[in-house]
Amino acid sequence: MNASDPSRLRPRLPSPLVPVADERFARRGLTLLLKREDLIHPDLPGNKWRKLAPNLRAAAGRPVLTFGGAYSNHLRATAAAGRLLGFPTLGIVRGDELAGRPLNPSLTRCAADGMRLQFTDRATYRAKNDPETLAALLARVRAPEDTYVVPEGGSNALAVEGCRELGRELAGAADVVAVAVGTGGTLAGLAAGLAPGQRALGVPVLKGGFLGREVRALQEAAFGGPRGDWTLDERFHRGGYARTDPALEAFAQDFEARHELAIERLYVAKMLFGVLTLAEEGAFPPGTRVAAVVTGGPDGLPQPSVSR
Ligand SMILES: Cc1ncc(COP(=O)(O)O)c(C=O)c1O
Repeated sequence: MNASDPSRLRPRLPSPLVPVADERFARRGLTLLLKREDLIHPDLPGNKWRKLAPNLRAAAGRPVLTFGGAYSNHLRATAAAGRLLGFPTLGIVRGDELAGRPLNPSLTRCAADGMRLQFTDRATYRAKNDPETLAALLARVRAPEDTYVVPEGGSNALAVEGCRELGRELAGAADVVAVAVGTGGTLAGLAAGLAPGQRALGVPVLKGGFLGREVRALQEAAFGGPRGDWTLDERFHRGGYARTDPALEAFAQDFEARHELAIERLYVAKMLFGVLTLAEEGAFPPGTRVAAVVTGGPDGLPQPSVSR
């Protein structure tokens, strides 16, 4: 095993699948299971592990450059992987207005893990997938020649392949598998890994209705075409990324108290809220086993102020 191989980090795989006793499901004849992806690794939990591990193998110790907003979990996981496995990391952060200001706690952790941070104006950031813009950006930040580039959110074809493993681990163990959707990579891979007869349910945490397209494009890139049975329910974003409201917060606090499990708010809470709402609407026939994927845990860092 080479020194930068992520397997050195001893991930907990397969991640645990645990039934939870919740009378709101039980009284409708439903079984709720939690797929505890958050337990895979403390610094690379959930879909961070699934997406980064194949990319880090491909990078094979070269410098890794990636992109994210000021509170990006993905930037933090990449920085931590660089520290743990000994490769350089470079983070392109959206928003040049942040340059020269004190780093927020999330970016402070990235920097402490050795990530070189570069703030970029929003127009350039938006155009980062255009090859010419990317080349100019790499030159501007003096990225080494052999730099390995991972897209925003870590979602590329290799990442989708990595997430297929999540679906495979669930084969036969659930009828419906619910997952939060940010860029769509996790759902794209999960759906592909499920067995016939199982279906994936994506709960977008961003508003705009564009994520179905993204999931299809990611499956096309990874597998050459559509895979698996998946749908999106667009009703649970609560106004957009990092937005919340009293009903969601009350739901999350109640779920935490019932199940003694701290719930990550930006993704996992919205997904669980969606699953419970669907159960209450009678969307799942009695006897359905619903697995909810806990893609990450709260990280103990203060959340962006917009979300509170
Ligand atoms: C905890 C958590 N859950 C779910 C997601 C959504 O994953 P994806 O971007 O692959 O749709 C993310 C974002 O990466 C995340 O951090």
